Amino acid sequence: MKALILVGGFGTRLRPLTLSFPKPLVDFANKPMILHQIEALKDIGVTEVVLAINYQPEVMLNFLKDFESKLGIKITCSQETEPLGTAGPLALARDKLADESGEPFFVLNSDVISEYPLKEMIAFHKSHGGEASLMVTKVDEPSKYGVVVTEESTGKVERFVEKPKIFVGNKINAGIYLLNPSVLDRIELKPTSIEKEIFPKIASANQLFAMVLPGFWMDIGQPKDYITGLRLYLDSLRKKTPSKLTSGAHILGNVLVDEGAKIGEGCLIGPDVAIGPGCVIESGVRLSRCTIMRGVRIKKHACISSSIIGWHSTVGQWARVENMTILGEDVHVGDEIYSNGGVVLPHKEIKASILKPEIVM
Ligand code: GDD
Ligand code: MG
Repeated sequence: MKALILVGGFGTRLRPLTLSFPKPLVDFANKPMILHQIEALKDIGVTEVVLAINYQPEVMLNFLKDFESKLGIKITCSQETEPLGTAGPLALARDKLADESGEPFFVLNSDVISEYPLKEMIAFHKSHGGEASLMVTKVDEPSKYGVVVTEESTGKVERFVEKPKIFVGNKINAGIYLLNPSVLDRIELKPTSIEKEIFPKIASANQLFAMVLPGFWMDIGQPKDYITGLRLYLDSLRKKTPSKLTSGAHILGNVLVDEGAKIGEGCLIGPDVAIGPGCVIESGVRLSRCTIMRGVRIKKHACISSSIIGWHSTVGQWARVENMTILGEDVHVGDEIYSNGGVVLPHKEIKASILKPEIVM
C-alpha cells in the first residue's frame, strides 16, 4: 500500500523553529513531526511514502534517508515547480500512487498530530464501498477548518465546506484520507484544492464517507497548539504505552525523556514535558509544559514553563522562561534572565530580560 504526505507550505507560524528546519522536520515529542506519520503508515503495512513537496526537497530527503533504512520503508519525493495546492500534488504523483494493484492509498496533511487508527480506516473504507474516506474530529472553533456534514447512520458526507463563514457543524476534516485510484481521474494537473474543488464533487456523487477519529487530534502549526498537542500526545502515551514515559520521585505527571539526556539532582520535572537526546538538565531545575529539543543545556535552578527551547540552546542558571517563550536554534539565555513570551530568532544571545511577549531578532 502507498501513501502521500502533503508537505507544502513554509511553516511561518512556527517560526523561529522553521527558520532552521522545514516544519515537518521540527521535533515533536522527541522526533520530527513527519516521523510520527511515517511510523504509523509503516505499522499498518504501507511500503512507500511519497512526500509532496514544493520547496527544499534535498533537506527533507537527506534527513529521512536514515529512517528509510531504519524503518524499512521507501520514501520518495514528488516535487512541484509551482505550488499545486492540496489536490494538484496527487495528479503530479499519479504514476506512483496508482499501481497495478488498484488498491486505495492514504493522503495525509503533514501539520497535524493525532491517533492514527489507519487499520480501522481501511475496514471502514471497505465497508461503505465508496471512492473516498476521510477522518473527522470535533473542535470548538470549526471555522478555521474544513467542516463535514454527514448522514449519522452511514457516515455518508452530505456537505464539505472549507473554512465556512457561518456555522455549518463542528465536525471537521482531520486531514487523513483513504482514496481509490479513481479519485485521480477527478483531478487535473494544476493548482487545485482537494477541500474546495474535489471533495464537494465526490460528496455530490454520494461517494465520500467520513469516520470519526477516535482519540486526540491537534493541528500543531502554532506554538500554543503545539504545547497543547504535546499534552494530548503524552496523555495518549500514558494510556497506550506508559512504559515509554519516565517515572521517579522528581517527575510529575507525563514526562518523556530521551535515553541520551542527563538530569541532575533535585530537579522537578512535569507535567507535560519532552526532553530530547543529548540534553543536559543541571541540578535543581524546574520544568513544566515545555519541549526541550536535542542538545540543549539548562543550567542550575532555571525554571521553564509553557515554552519551547530550540535545538542546542542554553538557558542560564536561575533564569526564568515562561508564557510561550520560543527559543530558536542555538540561542543562549544568560544567568538570571527573565523571558515572558519572548520569541527569539536562531543564534542570539539574550543578555537582558524580555518583560513582555515580543520577537527578538
Ligand atoms: N505539496 C503541497 N503543495 N502541499 C501543500 C500545498 C501545496 O501547494 N499547500 C498546502 N499543502 C499542505 C500543507 O503543508 C498541509 O500539510 C496540507 O497541505 C494542508 O494545508 P494547510 O495550508 O495546512 O491547510 P489548513 O490547515 O488551512 O486546512 C487543511 O487542514 C485542516 C486540518 O488541519 C484542510 O485540509 C482543512 O479541511 C482541514 O480541516
Ligand atoms: Mg494546516
